[in-house]
Amino acid sequence: MMKIDQAIKLDHGIQRDLLSQILATEGDSQERRQLFRQLTQELTIHADAEERHFYVPLIKIDATQDDARHGIAEHHEIEELVAKVKAADFDSSAWLKHAKNLAEKVQHHLAEEERDYFAKANGVLSDEQAEELGNQYLNAMKDARKNGD
Ligand SMILES: [Fe+2]
Ligand SMILES: [Fe+2]
Repeated sequence: MMKIDQAIKLDHGIQRDLLSQILATEGDSQERRQLFRQLTQELTIHADAEERHFYVPLIKIDATQDDARHGIAEHHEIEELVAKVKAADFDSSAWLKHAKNLAEKVQHHLAEEERDYFAKANGVLSDEQAEELGNQYLNAMKDARKNGD
């Protein structure tokens, strides 16, 4: 059994790794295209599972409601930054500029979740609830990766 914060943190590691690899790519390469495709998939399925199994339960609790709303709002900001990268040509300087903006936003978001929200969540969830949510989150991620969506 894994608590929800530990399960989320594992996937944050995947995102950080992809971001640093992406920023090291140059021009319109297969590597850049493939890493960016992987990143957008990870961001999408993680945001979806995290909202369902972390933020939605927390939004129902007074002490964590504002943070949960803020976290979900940042997921939308991240989507908008992804759209900007997608709109640029892979070999343009705009692509790298937008990718850097995206990386900064994602890094800020992950840090905020890990630094602030996890501690607050652990303060309002029982160990049992945190493990149940962790399980649900991991199952959702497993299904999403299997379906490749
Ligand atoms: Fe998030
Ligand atoms: Fe997250």
